[in-house]
Amino acid sequence: MRIVITGASSGLGEALALHYATKENQLVLIARRMEHLDDVAKRCREQGSEVETIIADVNDFERMRQIGETLGTLPIDRIILNAGMSVGHSGGITPFEDFERLFKTNFLSIHALLEPIIPKLIEQKTGEIVFISSLASLFTMPTSIAYSSSKRALNAYAEGLHYQLKPHGITVMTIMPGFIDSEMTRKNRFKMPFWMTTQEGIAKITDGIKRKRIRYAFPFRFYLMIRIVSLLPQSLRDKIVNFTNFKKGA
Ligand SMILES: NC(=O)c1ccc[n+]([C@@H]2O[C@H](COP(=O)([O-])OP(=O)(O)OC[C@H]3O[C@@H](n4cnc5c(N)ncnc54)[C@H](OP(=O)(O)O)[C@@H]3O)[C@@H](O)[C@H]2O)c1
Repeated sequence: MRIVITGASSGLGEALALHYATKENQLVLIARRMEHLDDVAKRCREQGSEVETIIADVNDFERMRQIGETLGTLPIDRIILNAGMSVGHSGGITPFEDFERLFKTNFLSIHALLEPIIPKLIEQKTGEIVFISSLASLFTMPTSIAYSSSKRALNAYAEGLHYQLKPHGITVMTIMPGFIDSEMTRKNRFKMPFWMTTQEGIAKITDGIKRKRIRYAFPFRFYLMIRIVSLLPQSLRDKIVNFTNFKKGA
């Protein structure tokens, strides 16, 4: 299989690359930090995979379009849109610049890369597009308005793309993980409910991909809690959010 992974230099992207690094798979790994990416590529090659690395900032949309054009010249079996970032806010109004950065990285960059690739997948009549969204897309805390908004926009995009591409034989999957150990979550200064190790998280993600889950949110108990809270009257939801925010010390 030819598998493209964005954000493969650390965290979930790195672990996904290593998971799929077998001699049957050719990997294309994308990220900004060359040393990290080269190290991941080296370990993937040691496991038998053919690996191409592309050093790029996903916020450079013109570059993303060019990369998309080039990647699309060969068949793509699976593309995992994983590159992403978060910015936590302890209070106050979210700066516009944070919204801009998060929407560019977590959302807009994705279509810049996919726009030239999608027609190729349609020609192929096969292929998988996997979006790494987040449980945070289903519930917005006052401390993560920009992050949740960017991931919710991604869900809406993925949903539409699923309906658009399913008739062409293309599977579009949206994975919504809870808290998983990574560089991103190591910065969090609050207790992360239902926290998972990277290996536990990757086992869930790769299982969801294997089973072609169109929308896959986990861990289940955390997802269930979010669903239940979303069904409560607003006054009760307000109380719960105030309480959890207070516990975070936000
Ligand atoms: N960990 C969690 O609990 C969790 C939960 C839900 C969803 N997610 C999502 O999972 C994805 C991976 O996050 P992670 O937890 O593995 O965090 P991470 O360790 O910080 O990894 C983020 C990856 O994205 C890449 N990236 C970030 N900005 C980029 C840019 N402008 N251009 C190119 N690459 C960029 C980084 O590479 P470079 O810095 O080398 O460019 C890195 O490889 C993100 O989309 C995140 O929102 C994570």
